[in-house]
Amino acid sequence: MHLYLPLLFTLSATLTTAQLTPNSTSQLPTNASFQDLIAYLPFINTTASFFLADPRASNQLATAPSNPVTIFIDLDLPYQQFLETPLPPGLAGETENASVSNEALQSDLLQYLQIDGVRPSTTFNGTQFLQTRFNDTTYENVTGGERIEVFRNETNFYIGTGINFKSNVLIPDLTFAGGILHIVDTPFAPPYSIASTGIVLNISILAPITAQLYQYPQTQAPLNISTAPDITVFAVQNSVADTLCPNTTIGSNYNYTGTYCSDAAQLSNYIVPGQVLYSTNLTNGVVTAGTALPARGNASVGAGAPLVVTTDSNGDIFVNNSRIIQRDIITSNGVVQVLER
Ligand SMILES: *[C@@H]1O[C@H](CO)[C@@H](O)[C@H](O)[C@H]1NC(C)=O
Ligand SMILES: *[C@@H]1O[C@H](CO)[C@@H](O)[C@H](O)[C@H]1NC(C)=O
Ligand SMILES: *[C@@H]1O[C@H](CO)[C@@H](O)[C@H](O)[C@H]1NC(C)=O
Ligand SMILES: *[C@@H]1O[C@H](CO)[C@@H](O)[C@H](O)[C@H]1NC(C)=O
Ligand SMILES: *[C@@H]1O[C@H](CO)[C@@H](O)[C@H](O)[C@H]1NC(C)=O
Ligand SMILES: *[C@@H]1O[C@H](CO)[C@@H](O)[C@H](O)[C@H]1NC(C)=O
Ligand SMILES: *[C@@H]1O[C@H](CO)[C@@H](O)[C@H](O)[C@H]1NC(C)=O
Ligand SMILES: *[C@@H]1O[C@H](CO)[C@@H](O)[C@H](O)[C@H]1NC(C)=O
Ligand SMILES: *[C@@H]1O[C@H](CO)[C@@H](O)[C@H](O)[C@H]1NC(C)=O
Ligand SMILES: *[C@@H]1O[C@H](CO)[C@@H](O)[C@H](O)[C@H]1NC(C)=O
Ligand SMILES: *[C@@H]1O[C@H](CO)[C@@H](O)[C@H](O)[C@H]1NC(C)=O
Ligand SMILES: *[C@@H]1O[C@H](CO)[C@@H](O)[C@H](O)[C@H]1NC(C)=O
Repeated sequence: MHLYLPLLFTLSATLTTAQLTPNSTSQLPTNASFQDLIAYLPFINTTASFFLADPRASNQLATAPSNPVTIFIDLDLPYQQFLETPLPPGLAGETENASVSNEALQSDLLQYLQIDGVRPSTTFNGTQFLQTRFNDTTYENVTGGERIEVFRNETNFYIGTGINFKSNVLIPDLTFAGGILHIVDTPFAPPYSIASTGIVLNISILAPITAQLYQYPQTQAPLNISTAPDITVFAVQNSVADTLCPNTTIGSNYNYTGTYCSDAAQLSNYIVPGQVLYSTNLTNGVVTAGTALPARGNASVGAGAPLVVTTDSNGDIFVNNSRIIQRDIITSNGVVQVLER
C-alpha cells in the first residue's frame, strides 16, 4: 500500500469542481454510514477504501457517532498519479522513507487525515493549526498530535501539510453518521523531519542546523533537534546561509559538507525548543528565547538569545527585525519559519 508516496509530483489533474460535484447533494443520504456515503462518491473510491481497509480507521468510522470526526480525503486521480511517479532520488529519511514500506506508519498517516469533532467549513475562518489524530511518537513529536494548517476565506479553502503541501478543498461538508467529510484535490504530505524538509524545499541552513549535534565534538548534547518534541526553527534564507555556513552542500540527513558555520551560536539562538510557534502564535510583542545550545565544540550551555516578535500593518511578521518570508512549514517535530536575514 503506497498511500502517500511518492510525494513530489506535478499535478496535472484537469477535473473541474463542477464535474466532481455529486449528482445532487440532496440525493445524498442523511446520517448514512461513512461506507454508505462513499458509495455515492466514485471519485474517492480508492482513497476512501484505505480507511475501510485499515482496522483502526475502520473502527473509528464505526464508532464515529460516539467519537465524532472530521476527515479529509483526496481524489483518486492525483493519488493514481502518485503511484506512477518514482521516488525522488537521494531522499532517504525517517518518517517519509518509512512510509514506502511500513504499514504501521501508513495506518498512522490515516490518523493525520482526521481531526476530532465535526467541523463544517463554516467553522473555519482565516488560518488555524489544528491537532490531528496522528500522535504516534515513533514518527512524529508534536505534543498532542501533529498539526495541519486549515485556511479559509471567501475565495480560498485549503489544508497545509508537510513540505508545504497545500490541498484545496473541492467538495466540503459531506456529512455521515458521527462525522463530516471534506474532499480535497491532492493528498496530504506527511510531516518530514527538519533535515529532509530542508532537502526537499532547498532551505540550505537546515542541514548544518540538523548536523550541529552530529559533526562537532561535544561532551554534552542538550538537545537533539531532529527528534526532540516541539521545535521551532527560524531558518535564514539561502543567500544569508551561504555567508553564515559557506560551501554547504546538502548530502543526506544529518550530513552536509562545507566549512563549519562561522556563527554556530547564532544558528542555535534561532531554534526554540519546547514550543511550536506557528504564525498564529507570533503576535506583536511576543518574546521567547532561542535555545541554549552550546556553540560548536563548546560543551557549556549558554543563554538563548531573546527573540522578539513584531508585526506591521501589511500583516508581515518580524523576529528580531527579520521578516518571515516563508511561513509555517510543518515538520515531524514542529515548524520552520524562513527569515529574510
Ligand atoms: C469502489 O468501487 C468498486 C467497483 O465499483 C465497488 O465494488 C466498491 O464497493 C467501491 N468501494 C467503496 C469503498 O465504495
Ligand atoms: C449520478 O449520475 C450518473 C449519470 O447520470 C448515474 O449513472 C449515477 O447512477 C448517478 N449516481 C447517483 C448516486 O445518483
Ligand atoms: C529509504 O528508502 C530507500 C528506498 O526504499 C532505501 O534504499 C533507503 O535505504 C531508505 N533509507 C533509510 C534511511 O531507511
Ligand atoms: C493518541 O491519541 C489516542 C486517542 O486520543 C490516545 O488514546 C493515545 O493515548 C494518544 N497517544 C499519545 C502518545 O498521546
Ligand atoms: C470570517 O470572519 C469575518 C469577521 O467575522 C467575516 O467578515 C468573514 O465573512 C468570515 N469569512 C468567512 C470565509 O467565513
Ligand atoms: C483569500 O486568501 C488568498 C490566499 O491568501 C488571497 O490570495 C485572497 O486574496 C483572499 N481573498 C479574499 C477575498 O480576501
Ligand atoms: C445517525 O446514525 C447513528 C448511527 O447509526 C445513530 O446512532 C443516530 O441516532 C443517528 N442520528 C440521527 C439524527 O438519526
Ligand atoms: C537552492 O537554492 C539555491 C539558492 O537560492 C540555488 O542556487 C539552488 O539552485 C537551489 N537548488 C535547487 C536544487 O533548487
Ligand atoms: C520522539 O521523542 C522520543 C523521546 O524523546 C524519541 O525517542 C523518539 O525517537 C522521537 N520520535 C521522533 C519521530 O523523532
Ligand atoms: C557525509 O557524507 C559523505 C559523503 O556521502 C560521507 O563520506 C561522510 O561520511 C558523511 N558524514 C557523516 C557524518 O555521515
Ligand atoms: C569554499 O569553496 C571554495 C572552492 O572549493 C574555496 O575556494 C573557498 O575557500 C571555500 N570557502 C570557505 C569559506 O571555506
Ligand atoms: C500556539 O497557538 C495554539 C492555538 O492556536 C495554542 O494551542 C498553542 O498553545 C500556542 N503555542 C504556543 C507555544 O504558545
